[in-house]
Amino acid sequence: MVGVTVVSLFLLLITTAANSAVVSFRDGILPNGDFELGPKPSDIKGTEVLNKMAIPNWEVTGFVEYISSGHKQGDMLLVVPAGKFAVRLGNEASIKQRLKVVKGMYYSLTFSAARTCAQDERLNISVAPDSGVIPVQTVYSSSGWDLYAWAFQAESEVAEVVIHNPGQEEDPACGPLIDGVAMRSLYPPRPTNKNILKNGGFEEGPLVLPGATTGVLIPPFIEDDHSPLPGWMVESLKAVKYVDTEHFSIPQGRRAIELVAGKESAIAQVARTVIGKTYVLSFAVGDANNACKGSMVVEAFAGRDTLKVPYESRGTGGFKRASIRFVAVSTRTRVMFYSTFYAMRSDDFSSLCGPVIDDVKLLSVRKP
Ligand SMILES: *[C@@H]1O[C@H](CO)[C@@H](O)[C@H](O)[C@H]1NC(C)=O
Repeated sequence: MVGVTVVSLFLLLITTAANSAVVSFRDGILPNGDFELGPKPSDIKGTEVLNKMAIPNWEVTGFVEYISSGHKQGDMLLVVPAGKFAVRLGNEASIKQRLKVVKGMYYSLTFSAARTCAQDERLNISVAPDSGVIPVQTVYSSSGWDLYAWAFQAESEVAEVVIHNPGQEEDPACGPLIDGVAMRSLYPPRPTNKNILKNGGFEEGPLVLPGATTGVLIPPFIEDDHSPLPGWMVESLKAVKYVDTEHFSIPQGRRAIELVAGKESAIAQVARTVIGKTYVLSFAVGDANNACKGSMVVEAFAGRDTLKVPYESRGTGGFKRASIRFVAVSTRTRVMFYSTFYAMRSDDFSSLCGPVIDDVKLLSVRKP
């Protein structure tokens, strides 16, 4: 007994020493994920970070700038969403942090990013062996800053989170700004006897930071099978927006999806069905109380069947319910939603918006 205890204590000590540079992760903002702790004066020249370990908890590579809110670039005044500081990644620059995670568990990262001077800015976010390239656009909010989500499955007990700018701009200082990096564990839901679809109410999803008045963009994933919105895929070219009850009007529960990019962004899920059986797909269509006004239409697809649901939005919140009855023609039925039209916020003509979808249920029913 005594021998065993001594050995395990010894192992514990070795493990602790080997992981001393790795931070144990709890849901929320990463250690110094808002970059409020900055480099010492000797580790910075102007805005350029000179030493790769200069920003506490992070390791930087390449041309990384430490930017304070109110920093002027040409005639542009840079604002920062979380606290007073952010970083900017120049061509091929990256920031990384090592986190202690649970092997096999799914995690979703949320971070703020803003495009600066380059027209086409992208970020490659990775936790080996997963990676995803996220386009940083300025069509979703007028401040330029948006929250983005990305998910991965931990392959080992340590996750090395890397955010990299693969850009090749002429001006090396043109690159995206990053701030407020946060993470939460995902608990992928299962279908139940009340719903054949997984996560039909969108309650499980990425972390929404307090003060996230713009919602969180769930980018399109062409190659990625780990969705930050468990159960759902984002198809086509543009993102959908994850909205929460703290900042928006939500038809049911605490979370919903805003279809912000017309037919260019669709969410889909494939459900197991029995050929010849009758099913009902029901859902709520509404608006998020974000000044998104006008005549909207959500198109729902269930296998070969489709339904167009018109919704008159006053932009002040509200919703209606709709359903479609169909007979399954396959053992796998694809359920998909998109918005027929584009919409712009009436208080901000540079921000895309759209109808909200929520409480999506699929159930088999007896024939009428
Ligand atoms: C993104 O980064 C990962 C990790 O460095 C790399 O394996 C992957 O090829 C990169 N993707 C692109 C499209 O550059």
